[in-house]
Amino acid sequence: MSETTKYVLQDDQIPSAWINVLPYLKEPLDPPLNPATRQPIGPEALAPIFPMSLIEQEFSPLPAIDIPGEVLDIYKLWRPTPLYRARRLEKALDTPARIYYKYEGVSPAGSHKPNTAVAQAYYNKQAGIKRLATETGAGQWGSALALASRMFGLECTVYMVRCSYDQKPYRRMMMHTWGAEVFPSPSAHTHSGAAVLAAHPDSPGSLGIAISEAVEDAATHSDTNYSLGSVLNHVLLHQTVIGQEARAQMTLAGDQPDVVIGCFGGGSNFGGIALPYVPEKIKGSQVRLLAVEPAACPSLTRGAYAYDFGDLAKLTPLLKMYTLGHDFVPPGIHAGGLRYHGASPLASNLLKNGIIEAKAYKQLPVFEAAVQFARVEGILPAPEAAHAIRAVFDEAAAAREEDRPRTILFCLSGHGHFDLAAYEAYLSGKLQDYEHPGAEIAEAMETLP
Ligand SMILES: Cc1ncc(COP(=O)(O)O)c(C=O)c1O
Repeated sequence: MSETTKYVLQDDQIPSAWINVLPYLKEPLDPPLNPATRQPIGPEALAPIFPMSLIEQEFSPLPAIDIPGEVLDIYKLWRPTPLYRARRLEKALDTPARIYYKYEGVSPAGSHKPNTAVAQAYYNKQAGIKRLATETGAGQWGSALALASRMFGLECTVYMVRCSYDQKPYRRMMMHTWGAEVFPSPSAHTHSGAAVLAAHPDSPGSLGIAISEAVEDAATHSDTNYSLGSVLNHVLLHQTVIGQEARAQMTLAGDQPDVVIGCFGGGSNFGGIALPYVPEKIKGSQVRLLAVEPAACPSLTRGAYAYDFGDLAKLTPLLKMYTLGHDFVPPGIHAGGLRYHGASPLASNLLKNGIIEAKAYKQLPVFEAAVQFARVEGILPAPEAAHAIRAVFDEAAAAREEDRPRTILFCLSGHGHFDLAAYEAYLSGKLQDYEHPGAEIAEAMETLP
């Protein structure tokens, strides 16, 4: 019989619950703080912008949370996603390593982001909310929330980072097709946006600014809530469908990972593939869990573990996380979804406690790996996801050089069909490397509250 390339599950094998690792942590999460009083905030402080069901998930002590039937029905449009054995890549890399990838690019929006967008839209609809406001960097999250809002009959307003709004018209058109309204951020629709525009009329925008605008929009309209595509516990929770399916598929393949790899922006796809392995890792399993970030925005590898704001205008609670400082504006690398100054507090806690590892790469070696991957496996990866691929290449090389075979599992979080300008820049030799300079890190750290 020929060798299996794809491990496929059936509709009824979509996980029925999300896995919550909060009760397993060695050290409990530090609580979010009120930015004015610096005191821990309770659930009521988040109620103006989030529905209570999501706030409960944010702090839940339960090890698993059932997925509502209406959410599962929508998941069925693209889940379970396939797990591939990258046999052609293994051959091309001449490695004794076995490489598997979980492909989330088969969702309608082309990434893992709808896994939480659908859940968030569902709970907001249940709470009687009419409209969701959010930010988006490269447009992946905005398009996922536009899709999910449409599925539940909610309106959707997206503040899209100005430079992406101009450079990525196709993501914007996708959001319009699903019925969302999209403003370039900074915009004149909010006080926070208008303040930035007054000081910097040509501002290219940043995720920190766009978050301020979306939070302000939600906080000032009673029928509107805010929705975040990464960072928070409930977002990572929803993404655990990825890792749970992958575990079942690895069992089908008769294999188990030695290393699990995901790219890292705010932490949601990495959390999605890695968190289901965390309880056993805390109990002593040898599996390695590796988060990969850009050298241009190295919050995990060069940031401080400290309380910081999630946004530029300091509207969000203070979160304990690895951060480069809330007013840090990352260079315009092409992995737009990885340009965030902070990191998931949950992933930060795991890193601090040695449960996960982190690594950073510059964008040229990342694109080199992306192109090589596309040429053997066919799929053209999102530049964000290509960071994970770069790390896979290095693991595969280490397996060869050390003559130690290993099983590598990674999350291919999205396709790069709307990132072709980045590929063109790389292929024509115009793409540049950026490394975040140490002096700027030190300067941004001075703004930590
Ligand atoms: C395809 C893809 N992968 C990864 C990310 C990074 O986000 P996160 O760390 O939340 O998975 C993004 C963000 O937009 C993305 O679009």
